[in-house]
Amino acid sequence: MQSQTLDIPADVTATLVDPRAYADDRIHDAYRWLRANNPLGIARPEGFDPFWVVTRHADILNVGRQNDLFHNADRPTTLTTKSLEARARELTGSPNLVRSLVQMDAPDHPKYRALTQGWFMPANLTKFEARVRAIARAAVEKMLATSGRCDFVNDVALHYPLHVIMEILGVPESDEPRMLMLTQQLFGPQDPDVSRAREQLTSEQFGAMITAIINDFGAYFAKITADRRASPRDDLASVIANAKVNGDYLPEHDITSYYMIVATAGHDTTSSSTAGAIWALAQDPAEFARVKANPELIPGLVDEAIRWMTPVKHFMRSATADTELGGRRIAKGDWLMLCYASGNRDETVFDDAFAFRSDRKPNRHLAFGYGAHLCLGQYLAKLEMRILFEELLPRLKSVALDGEMKMTQATFVNGPKKLPIRFEVN
Ligand code: HEM
Repeated sequence: MQSQTLDIPADVTATLVDPRAYADDRIHDAYRWLRANNPLGIARPEGFDPFWVVTRHADILNVGRQNDLFHNADRPTTLTTKSLEARARELTGSPNLVRSLVQMDAPDHPKYRALTQGWFMPANLTKFEARVRAIARAAVEKMLATSGRCDFVNDVALHYPLHVIMEILGVPESDEPRMLMLTQQLFGPQDPDVSRAREQLTSEQFGAMITAIINDFGAYFAKITADRRASPRDDLASVIANAKVNGDYLPEHDITSYYMIVATAGHDTTSSSTAGAIWALAQDPAEFARVKANPELIPGLVDEAIRWMTPVKHFMRSATADTELGGRRIAKGDWLMLCYASGNRDETVFDDAFAFRSDRKPNRHLAFGYGAHLCLGQYLAKLEMRILFEELLPRLKSVALDGEMKMTQATFVNGPKKLPIRFEVN
């Protein structure tokens, strides 16, 4: 039976909206408390509209699979203050500053998704496998050249997936630092180390900062669009530039948003998961030895790292009609936070949910979401990680922490931003 108390206590609510709590274990303590005491309650933080906090695996699946009943585009798709939402509405006429796949619903969403879906399917990705392996080998060689000590995030994990997605997209290597900076600013605006502005910003300033980042992306990709329309190549940018929906090229805002999601969704998330795996192995020599001795465990290591790290902490949905969920009455228009990182530690689904186990089977994690918006890049992410570990693990004799791991402070996408390790080479 569901708890009668709807409202989530103020301290737990404060944790949910505090970017700093995502950089340590406080967010998992809050999720654990919610799963046990109020798995589907309402948070009413100051400055935000109230929202339901969905923390159980089963309830997240239930919302994710009902895409007509729970929309993405009607309200902000990520946790957003009231004033920032108002600013977005002023600037774009919609609650979100961008209009990429995640900010769409049917009928547009399936049409836009179909434009690139084939590119991301395993049958097409096999074409890139040799190239991805070459990029992975170069990343491993660079790491090994550090003579036994490195910051795994900055020396390996950040650049490898970025390089892969930029090659697929067709962005020249010389422009990658710019893409990396823009992505970090877009996803980490709450983190003082990666933010454009280091002091606390007002919503006006924050809105202006994000708009400037979007304009930078737009200006950059406008040139790519013109080039690929004039002379299409065998790259994903050519597919996006020349795509037509209902007989027309995509409107400018949609096309920038499309490039942005492809350029940004794939590398921070994949690098956080990759770093998460090394963090786990560096803390557990027995697990490292087990995976090293049994390379067939590598796909399991990859899945477990994605579950354990869950870089995308949440997405929001809103109800299109009155309904019932997990014993609660949800009203039309209500806003819901799908806490993927909580669902991925749900004790009723995962044995010893806080432990890292490469041999976890089954591993039905929700880190890629669920339903019509299920991550388009999931096969690419898993392929990249598998290949990196196939290249890296045979070369390593040992790996250990060499200082403190630090996570980014962000309520939406986060993961390690610093992971000092020591390692010995075979
Ligand atoms: C470990 C790495 C990754 C994680 C954890 C991750 C996670 C997610 C999540 C949670 C969603 C939203 C699902 C939902 O709302 O139900 C999503 C959507 C998406 N992801 Fe990923 N992702 C990863 C890698 C990638 C990569 C490599 C790409 C390649 C470009 C990518 C492209 C996308 C796109 C285009 C969408 C929007 C799909 C849609 O709305 O239809 N992701 N991802």
